[in-house]
Amino acid sequence: MNLKIALIVLLLYLSFGSTSCKKEELTEEEKEWEQDLHEYDTGNQGLKDHFNNIDYFDMGVAIPASFVDNTAKTALIKRHYNSITAENDMKWSSLQPQEGSFNYTNADKIVSFAAANGIKIRGHCLCWHNQVPDWVFKDGTALATKEQILERLHTHITTVMTRYKGKVYAWDVVNEAIDDGSRTYRPSQWYSMCGEDYIIEAFRAAREADPDALLFYNDYSTIVPAKRDKIYDLAVKLKAENLIDGLGLQGHWSISFPSDDLIKQALDKFKSLGLQIQITEMDVSVYPSPSDPESEYTAEVEQQLTAAYDRFFTAFRSYSDVITSVTFWGLADDKTWLDNFPVAGRKNYPLLFDTGLRPKKAYFEITDF
Ligand code: XIL
Repeated sequence: MNLKIALIVLLLYLSFGSTSCKKEELTEEEKEWEQDLHEYDTGNQGLKDHFNNIDYFDMGVAIPASFVDNTAKTALIKRHYNSITAENDMKWSSLQPQEGSFNYTNADKIVSFAAANGIKIRGHCLCWHNQVPDWVFKDGTALATKEQILERLHTHITTVMTRYKGKVYAWDVVNEAIDDGSRTYRPSQWYSMCGEDYIIEAFRAAREADPDALLFYNDYSTIVPAKRDKIYDLAVKLKAENLIDGLGLQGHWSISFPSDDLIKQALDKFKSLGLQIQITEMDVSVYPSPSDPESEYTAEVEQQLTAAYDRFFTAFRSYSDVITSVTFWGLADDKTWLDNFPVAGRKNYPLLFDTGLRPKKAYFEITDF
């Protein structure tokens, strides 16, 4: 054997030897992980198949229009989701930045992609205190009157819902109108200039514009008792006039919050309304406290994330008689609004797919039931 061949033989022996050695050293947990990944790569089932909307609920994702041009992202969306929400492209400032001048380019792009792939669309959102242009509340340099504002609200809702009639099956009509503190309503420009009438008017306009669309009130911290009860009271009021079909619970939660008890209490209370419940903006921050400084995403943190997702989805499944949809606020950890909220530039890892669009442990945990 000459030296070159001997070297090759040695290298081959070493590399095979070391892999088989590695294999033997795998723990049960590592073997299970490799098996999960292998099944994922060789199969084609996705979240929507595990949580099929007959036994459980729709599975949704919020995306920007730009994802429609990204082949890897569209493949992931098509495999896993049967519902899409526009993350920003259907908000007032996107659709009607100037009075009377509507821009549907991005929203249409998302709607066409969804239609071409048999995916439903949840509309988000018709009336919110954020991402609404200043002109809505102004008359030249002066403040607009209540009548002017309500008329603009009516026009916006009628125009947008008419355009997407039959395409958008459900709308977040009013978003985040309840106060986090001791007030009933958030003191937004909407509220300070129109009182609670703007909420009722928004729902009336929506019902009139598309009687077949499902109308939702959507908010965060819905499981916090004081806020939960105010949301409940508002829903009772809207339901008495047949203006609401469901409550949207955003679900911007964390690895340590909320507890099983709080989730159960809220879902029991909302369920008693006889309305649908949708989890509309699910993500789970890896930072227990909102202002925690950036820290490494260790295996231990990932384990906490997996355990939190397991708890949340176990609860959702046990309320699948009233929960009709669960939407993630983002597709994968490479791009999440939580990288800049509530702390700018702090990397977060709140979703089921990692920065390389690969399924995380949480994915396998919640689909294993
Ligand atoms: C967020 C988007 O994800 C960001 O891209 C944007 O800069 C701000 O809004 N509650 C809502 C969503 O109802 O519309 C918000 O979306 C997140 C909080």
